[in-house]
Amino acid sequence: MSWERLYQVLQPETAGTAARVFRVTHHAMVIVGIAIMLADTVSEWRQAYHEILDAGFQLACAFFFAEYVVRLAVAPSAPGVPRRGWRARLAWAASTGGVFDLLGALPGILDIVFNPKYASLYGFIWVFKPVRYAPGLASLQRVISRARHALLSVLLGFGIVLLAAASLAYLLERNAQPELFGSIPLALWWAIVTLTTTGYGDVTPVTPLGRVLAGIVMVSGILVFALWAGILATGYAEELRRREFLRTWDLVAKVPFFHNVGASVIADVARLLRPRDYPARAAIVRRGERGDCMYFIASGEVEVRLRPGAVRLGPGEFFGEIALLTGEPRSATIVAVQPCTLLTLDIVDFRQLLGRQPQLARVVSEEAERRLQANDVREQPMHQAALKTDPAE
Ligand code: CMP
Repeated sequence: MSWERLYQVLQPETAGTAARVFRVTHHAMVIVGIAIMLADTVSEWRQAYHEILDAGFQLACAFFFAEYVVRLAVAPSAPGVPRRGWRARLAWAASTGGVFDLLGALPGILDIVFNPKYASLYGFIWVFKPVRYAPGLASLQRVISRARHALLSVLLGFGIVLLAAASLAYLLERNAQPELFGSIPLALWWAIVTLTTTGYGDVTPVTPLGRVLAGIVMVSGILVFALWAGILATGYAEELRRREFLRTWDLVAKVPFFHNVGASVIADVARLLRPRDYPARAAIVRRGERGDCMYFIASGEVEVRLRPGAVRLGPGEFFGEIALLTGEPRSATIVAVQPCTLLTLDIVDFRQLLGRQPQLARVVSEEAERRLQANDVREQPMHQAALKTDPAE
């Protein structure tokens, strides 16, 4: 197996049997390693099963050590790495992933070199191993990194309120409870327990003013955490919108219909389109329904069931525009022939977009006109046949 292939096998998103087997083994080793670490701390289990526990621990250690060595070896095969050879390996070893993988290989090294009695305890580091396979955690990291200025401002506010609360509590309570509020560092414990709304109850103010202060600090604590939650929730929503935009951009750029328009039009369109996946044989549009959106085909094929006959549409083509332009019900039923990825454009956005992009408006309405004429031609023989067989005529 080449280095490039080995590199691919180790990547979380790679499909294929080898990559899947590696992932299953990796996750199984994490579970085994952590279970052994937990079991090792129960003395009855340790006494009864120490041979099995030791063997399992060494197996997990050997696996994570080998994984580290292989990841280090294949580091130069990563796409877009500017450095080659050992420079690329050093760069990977110094990256966050590299440092965590080294820490993951450490329990085994500790066990071999120092043979400490509780080497398995260091196995807690393995709980971080699945992070690479959890895209949600990677998003959280990006959200925190983007919102770091806002989060740090709130943290600074938290620090200010904490210190002010401890200082005021010291002033108000030091005479009544010198053993608990005798200094600002002592009062800080009460302040942090109150500000985080934990409230152990081991230290409580007894003077009336001290209690008023406690009430204010508790409410401030709720406000601080509400602000943190708000910043993170907004960051998450933005991250999801950004990911959806990138996926849509990618799909829009692949649709031949948009090839001739500039990047600004693509960006304009990508903001409004929503990708949707349909399985084969799914009915996307039904004749007679009210039309509320139109569709661009990013991939796959659909069948437009007309009366009589049918037409197939493929990547780059669009449908569902006639109902939006005429206000009439859907003129045909449309079914996915293969699994399809479609980009939908809502009726309100459709009107705004066509207003802003006259070139797009012309293409869509010319095609709608052509289709309506073609349908009239198709339906004529049916009308004539009906007229011939109708005895009333
Ligand atoms: P609409 O009437 O909104 O819903 C059904 C869609 O089928 C219609 O818009 C067109 O986009 C599409 N359609 C109708 N007739 C034809 C045709 N002759 N060729 C291709 N597509 C068609």
